[in-house]
Amino acid sequence: MSKMDLLRLVTTGSVDDGKSTLIGRLLYDTGSIYLDQLEALSKKGALNKEGIDLAMVTDGLKAEREQGITIDVAYRHFMTKKRRFIIADAPGHVEYTRNMVTGASTAQVALLLLDAQNGLTTQTRRHAFIASLLEIRHLLLAINKMDLVNYSEERFNELKEEFNNFALRLNFADVTFIPISALKGDNVAVKSDNMPWYRGQSVLNYLENVYIEADRNLRDMRFDIELTLRCAPDFRGYAGRVLSGVLRVGDEVLALPSKQKSSIKSITTYNERPAYAFAPQNVAIELNDELDVGRGAMLVRPDNQPQLLEKLDLMVVWLGEKPLELTKSYYVRHLSAEVRGRVDKIYYNIDPDTLHRRATSALNLNDIGRLGLTLYKPLPVDSYEQNRVTGHLILIDPDTNATVAACMVLARNTAGMAEDGAEKLAAAPAESGERRFATGAKTLQKAKTIWLTGLSGAGKSTIAAALMEILSEYQLAATVLDGDVIRKGISAGLGFSEADRLENIRRVAEVARLLNSAGVLAICALISPMRAGRELARRIIGPERFIEAYVNTPLHECQKRDPKGLYKKGISGEIAEFTGVSAPYEEPLAPELVLDTLGKSPKELVEEILDYLAGSH
Ligand code: ADX
Repeated sequence: MSKMDLLRLVTTGSVDDGKSTLIGRLLYDTGSIYLDQLEALSKKGALNKEGIDLAMVTDGLKAEREQGITIDVAYRHFMTKKRRFIIADAPGHVEYTRNMVTGASTAQVALLLLDAQNGLTTQTRRHAFIASLLEIRHLLLAINKMDLVNYSEERFNELKEEFNNFALRLNFADVTFIPISALKGDNVAVKSDNMPWYRGQSVLNYLENVYIEADRNLRDMRFDIELTLRCAPDFRGYAGRVLSGVLRVGDEVLALPSKQKSSIKSITTYNERPAYAFAPQNVAIELNDELDVGRGAMLVRPDNQPQLLEKLDLMVVWLGEKPLELTKSYYVRHLSAEVRGRVDKIYYNIDPDTLHRRATSALNLNDIGRLGLTLYKPLPVDSYEQNRVTGHLILIDPDTNATVAACMVLARNTAGMAEDGAEKLAAAPAESGERRFATGAKTLQKAKTIWLTGLSGAGKSTIAAALMEILSEYQLAATVLDGDVIRKGISAGLGFSEADRLENIRRVAEVARLLNSAGVLAICALISPMRAGRELARRIIGPERFIEAYVNTPLHECQKRDPKGLYKKGISGEIAEFTGVSAPYEEPLAPELVLDTLGKSPKELVEEILDYLAGSH
């Protein structure tokens, strides 16, 4: 049973969205509430002729848990034949941000509840944003209380579109919408007959099937030493946790920060001596050499190291009652290590409603912002994006001992680089991720055209925008030419006949050519459905500059997403010559790049483009 697949889930929602009822129903319908609890509930009047008051199930459990202790996040377990589940239930009231950050730190799926009547609130956006910030890859938006809006498909689609418009700028591998009524049980454990228009899965089905295996980091071996063991005169071992990757007997290891080398002699668990261990196992190990390392040291592989940094660039969620103080020294806790650190700079904070960045000189309770932190001693860190365990740290106020910030190490330590732009970047020290980007920056100066082609709804505009954001962070000159925008401007008046599309492409290609010759990188996002059109663009721009990137999303997926509701209109005939429905799309035969979007976030796809650029000359 313990080998059964485990899914960690965090649930959030505003007060009264029906979260307790939903969790109660999941527990109840999977038989996870014990008989004695049922009896106790019956005494409290939770059982009546309509069944069981499900909110009382969870609230009752919560009351039990909270007696005498203050645990802000309640963890609940249930299982089905397919998986075990742990729900971190983050209460939606005043301290919601802190609760969410605590509950979500290890979650693989975020379940966000929305009241179909009330619609999107600031809290919905904030929770989605935090979930994205914490690199939770899968978001489930359960639109609740559908029974109170007459199970209306229109209302569901309206909320879906509104949320999609917001979530496009966030970093999820996938976002799934399910219309439910937690109270009535519609689409929670079983599919509902009340919404025949909804063809997707129930919440439980989704949770059983969502693909999470790829989310584990089995690549980068990191071992955190928590304790030195001396059991017998000749035994010296280290107890700790495999944070990510796989650890094998015989593997060469490097201890950080001391940089001493050795290799693994043995691995011991509480009852076995296995040949290997993997995240998140706790094990004891012996090394073949005597090293002078102790609590807080990290073992890694010599050919795959984190960065040993004194200056960190961080996204933080400020959890302190008192605002952040720039000159003050805080404790910085990273795994088992603790050092002092000082915040040098607040770059900006982010408005969770609009995702806009605002320059600021302070961070207050619940604020989310980007900081520069200087440590008194270097720590071995990975970017949070690459490793949610080694890329995470917390700040502690030395006066009160309270945790005041949850911090995510940013992908590229860009502090101090943005000012000098591409040239400095190209000459920047060649350290792991930076090396690739630095070469990329050099190549980028040769200004190419990245031509994103693919079906409507494939993700071209999203990728273009995400790429643009990274490039502008490095102050590299680039411009997006997006079909939807172009068609309102330089191609206004053109339709969607084959000839008009060709003319649209010709115009965009001419503009891209001019941009390239001025040293500006052009990112074109156009369906450009015909091979002939793309060949024309290649000729105009020049084959040495032209990078055809096929944004490959299957038609059924685009139809499912249908962000602008156009497929529906295409199918009903309301829009003629709609690509993929009533007009052809010719897949590229030999594109420079194929971006398979399924299961990947825009960020990951952008990485693929940057990798390609770094490798092309
Ligand atoms: S292209 O075919 O000429 O390359 P382009 O990328 O500029 O297409 O514009 C496509 C956008 O126009 C789509 O994202 C969609 O919003 C809109 N559109 C309107 N009618 C159609 C149609 N018949 N086929 C495709 N897209 C259409």
